[in-house]
Amino acid sequence: EKGGYDHFMLKEIYEQPSVIKDTYRGRLHANEGLIKMAGIEDNLQKFLNADRILIIACGTSWHAGLVAEYIFEEFARIPVEVEYASEFRYRNPIIRPTDVVIAISQSGETADTLAAIKLAKEQGAFVFGVCNVVGSSISRETHAGAYTHAGPEIGVASTKAFTTQITVLTLIALRLAQAKGTMNNSDFHRYLQELELIPEKVAEALETNLVAQTIAAVYKDAPNALYLGRGYNFPVALEGALKLKEISYIHAEGYPAAEMKHGPIALIDEHMPVFIIAPQQEHYDKIVSNIQEIKSRSGKIIAVVTKGDTQVKALADHVIEIPATSDALSPLLTTIPLQLLSYHIAVMRECNVDQPRNLAKSVTVE
Ligand code: M6R
Repeated sequence: EKGGYDHFMLKEIYEQPSVIKDTYRGRLHANEGLIKMAGIEDNLQKFLNADRILIIACGTSWHAGLVAEYIFEEFARIPVEVEYASEFRYRNPIIRPTDVVIAISQSGETADTLAAIKLAKEQGAFVFGVCNVVGSSISRETHAGAYTHAGPEIGVASTKAFTTQITVLTLIALRLAQAKGTMNNSDFHRYLQELELIPEKVAEALETNLVAQTIAAVYKDAPNALYLGRGYNFPVALEGALKLKEISYIHAEGYPAAEMKHGPIALIDEHMPVFIIAPQQEHYDKIVSNIQEIKSRSGKIIAVVTKGDTQVKALADHVIEIPATSDALSPLLTTIPLQLLSYHIAVMRECNVDQPRNLAKSVTVE
């Protein structure tokens, strides 16, 4: 049932090239320059008339929402707010009939997300679901939606659900950008083609497994870890930290790299591993200077870089190379080595990878 893998988590990590393809199959038509998603086409006017999009979710799904915020605002120029479902539902939020709410949930059963959806509906918002489990409570409670087609995710630590959520949300953002005219035609076509190449690039990113294992052996006993990223990869830093803490019980925190100097840099010494997501992208020079700041305080630097990188490589203690892609799609690749690192660290610490202590696969209680 684990398909020859030691754990469901590893199997699910390795399924990502094929499930990302399943997620865009029938939706992404790169050659024709089309994106077809029934749930979007049927409700296109609602999305186009939306004053803003509210994204509600918990945990890893909330991180996918944060990536989507950057993508929607960049591509479709629609203001986006991302909120924890638990905060949203209890704080008397302002919800208008012109709001589109996107609820993201792998299981489709998360109690807080479900309650937040009911609240948004009561206040007249249009609610769109992004779920993995077909027929789940959230998929039934929402007005429309799009499934992620990741197949069953058994490991409590979410992996393939995250990358397929980002895939669906990217497709939606691209379709809206096309309909709104906020992206020019050649960029639109370029993104479609780039997206189609993602599964094979994810497969290439999975080839970092041995490097990840070697690095895991060096840092497996660290009591703390920091994860840093900028822009589209800031949420990936949060997700990397969550993955490490939930399965290896190492205290980890994710930050936007530039926030370091506002406090967390005080934590840096020679015992602190700092995982930095530093692909060649906009503001690369900024992340290089962030790395220099950490290095001058003796922090240990493990950097996820684009293949062929030289600048970060010269500074870092370890690098993990991933293929190049456009900035907005890079989270789909940078996430992969961080999943593998957490996995190997947890295995080396003899933790129960698939069923970490105190956690349940779906959180159906408040
Ligand atoms: O099923 P959902 O996507 O609604 O679940 C949300 C969170 O409970 C979930 O992502 C959780 O944080 C995972 N254990 C993360 O790996």
